[in-house]
Amino acid sequence: MNNGSMRAVGVIPGRREVALLQHAMPRVSGPTELKVRTLDVGICGTDREICSFAYGTPPDGSDYLVLGHEALGEVVETGPGVTKFKTGDLVVPTVRRPCPHDHCPSCRDARQDFCFTGDFTERGIKMTHGFMTEYFVEDQAHLNIVPRALRDVAVLVEPLTVAEKALAQVWQVQQRLPWNNGSSGLRGAGKTAVVLGAGPVGILGAMALLVNGFKTYVYSRSAEPNPKAALVNSIGAKYISSATTSLADFAREVGTIDLVYEALGVAKISFEVMKVLGLNGVFVFTGIPPHKPAIPVEADSLMRQVVLMNQAIIGTVNADRPAFETAIRDLGTFQERWPDSLSKIITGRHPMENYRELLLGKAAGIKNVITVAQ
Ligand code: BGC
Repeated sequence: MNNGSMRAVGVIPGRREVALLQHAMPRVSGPTELKVRTLDVGICGTDREICSFAYGTPPDGSDYLVLGHEALGEVVETGPGVTKFKTGDLVVPTVRRPCPHDHCPSCRDARQDFCFTGDFTERGIKMTHGFMTEYFVEDQAHLNIVPRALRDVAVLVEPLTVAEKALAQVWQVQQRLPWNNGSSGLRGAGKTAVVLGAGPVGILGAMALLVNGFKTYVYSRSAEPNPKAALVNSIGAKYISSATTSLADFAREVGTIDLVYEALGVAKISFEVMKVLGLNGVFVFTGIPPHKPAIPVEADSLMRQVVLMNQAIIGTVNADRPAFETAIRDLGTFQERWPDSLSKIITGRHPMENYRELLLGKAAGIKNVITVAQ
């Protein structure tokens, strides 16, 4: 049965085109599936990279891939076996779907963010269509309910999950040592964190670090004054520009660094900052730089330091359901604590027709969102 078609933004890698497409209207076909009306879709560096054809794969049998993996929608139809959702609920989908292999313990345990085979798919990125379209169908296992009060900012849940998954690992890794957090009960109390980069992942990460009690610095390139620095300072983190403050001066000002949260996607500055990570510190990489020519790194000195200082270097990608749940809870805390600053992360709301400028034009603002429906 033909259900008609709807508008979607996608890439056609074979023709190296980014286009507004007609895409088949999806249908609920399994008992635990839901149909969701898309409200907001965020645009990130991964989308822009897919549009440069360096990344991203259409589903088997399709010559295009519908983009979009940061989404907020409203449930419009539920399959007969749906237990956790009802029509009208606001939902945010996760991104990665499990590989089919029995021998992948992660995917069989709903931990496809740690897939062992690489045969996972990702909505809007790898072999499954994304959410930059009017409706999507999804199994209830991959959706998270969002309170109505977060309607205007819930499109930020997915980029916040990057920090939430990173922090979940930091807590696990630091169980190796007696981290004394004082009496506040906050796990980062008395500790210092440095965020590299002041894009959406960096700013949301700084907010997550602050609510966990860390003294938080954001080290980023642009000289002050600039809107990102103002936003960072407004939440009680401290913005320091690498254009005006050398790494040595930065390290002197910050003191012992217990955690570096990299949200920049640039190796050169990241490996420089690794040199000033403190004793027993953790360095978490989240950025995905494009392949580039090799750069010099003081590898022996760094290796010596990582060993002699008990340091942990972690790479993290994608997020599991608990990270989405923590992100939804924390976003509520951010909204209570910093309502103005939180809303300022979304610097543009656009109709779908603006896709070309948003995906291929010069990156502008902090987080740009496509408003598919109100
Ligand atoms: C997404 C992740 C995804 C990663 C790699 C990121 O932009 O947020 O969910 O796993 O790209 O494809």
